[in-house]
Amino acid sequence: MSPSHAMITKARKGFRSHFNEDPVFVSRCPGRVNLIGEHTDYNDGFVLPIALQFSTVIASKPVSSDDVQVHSEGFGHAQFSLSESPQESEGWSRYLHGMGALLKSSGVPVKGWRGFICSDIPAGANLSSSAALEIASGLTFRSVAGVDTPLMEIAIAGQAVENEIIGVRSGIMDQLACTFAEAGSALLIDCQSLGLSSVALPKQVSVVVMDTGTRRELSGTAYNDRRETCERVAAALGADSLREVSLQDLGSLEVVDKIGFRRARHVVTENQRVVDVVHCLRSNDLMEAGNLINASHESLRSDYEVSGPALDKIVEIAQNVKGCYGARMTGGGFAGSAVALVENEHVEAFCPQVSDLFPAPEEQPAEAPATLFVVEASAGVSVT
Ligand code: GLA
Repeated sequence: MSPSHAMITKARKGFRSHFNEDPVFVSRCPGRVNLIGEHTDYNDGFVLPIALQFSTVIASKPVSSDDVQVHSEGFGHAQFSLSESPQESEGWSRYLHGMGALLKSSGVPVKGWRGFICSDIPAGANLSSSAALEIASGLTFRSVAGVDTPLMEIAIAGQAVENEIIGVRSGIMDQLACTFAEAGSALLIDCQSLGLSSVALPKQVSVVVMDTGTRRELSGTAYNDRRETCERVAAALGADSLREVSLQDLGSLEVVDKIGFRRARHVVTENQRVVDVVHCLRSNDLMEAGNLINASHESLRSDYEVSGPALDKIVEIAQNVKGCYGARMTGGGFAGSAVALVENEHVEAFCPQVSDLFPAPEEQPAEAPATLFVVEASAGVSVT
């Protein structure tokens, strides 16, 4: 049984054991790992994520009131009324409540339901466990309402939950990746036009997620601070976003705004790297794809300054293990996971070798031992 089928079965069983009846709907949303294009989404740039084989699943049944009542595997219980503000809810419940409130304000006739939720996406590892929660609950609200709200609207509502209710000014990458990814392919997203295209992954290469076991909340101020700096630089150059800015345009900034210059240089060069990696994957030039992935990490580390001691260490180890084309931090950064592109015939030896060589650095203690797993590029959301 595939991991996502196992989660669907678990959610159905959980629902039955809590409510003594069968669920009516089952919504599944995978996590994601981003191959390249980091901190570019909120700058109208390009990103290249894949969806994981790990997912969050909600089994549900409509009720005749405005109340939502959800049991979970391992995360306690959530209960709220859609007539109250989502700020009344705490923890993971706020994501569900936020989704219901935002869909309601956009005209979806949301109603109450009861459900059971389970997930095998590692939480806090920069693998989009929160976007998966938003989208799986958005699909549940949509099914319960009996409407066919476009998936794009659900994804945009998920981003609005982060921005308006959680307080993280994140971009749209995670929600679009989790929703629209296709099995066997990465998803190239143009975050300005919201255009999506599939990029098939060459068969001889594996994607490895390297979770360092370190954790850091994204809602820390650093993420929002990076976004503000990018907006400030774009505005100073008379542009709507850094997407419209070239390296030459940045020249004048180098002396007057050193930090702004370096942040923007990351974004501008990263956008070009995404386009170049897509070209490399399509023409099977894995050596060059790997070089670009390594260059992305260096730019995130030194110009954008969103890496951290544990991410730097695991990336450096991975880059030197046989069969690795390239490795970099992935997602928001500071802690959590890195990603590597590894030749299939070496991947089995690669994983234990990296974890053996990686004790978390003393200056950034880990909450759990490092875990490496080979990712299957999986399909986005489904509802049954
Ligand atoms: C987090 C955000 C995304 C994106 C990445 C960095 O995952 O949710 O929108 O900005 O960080 O690329």
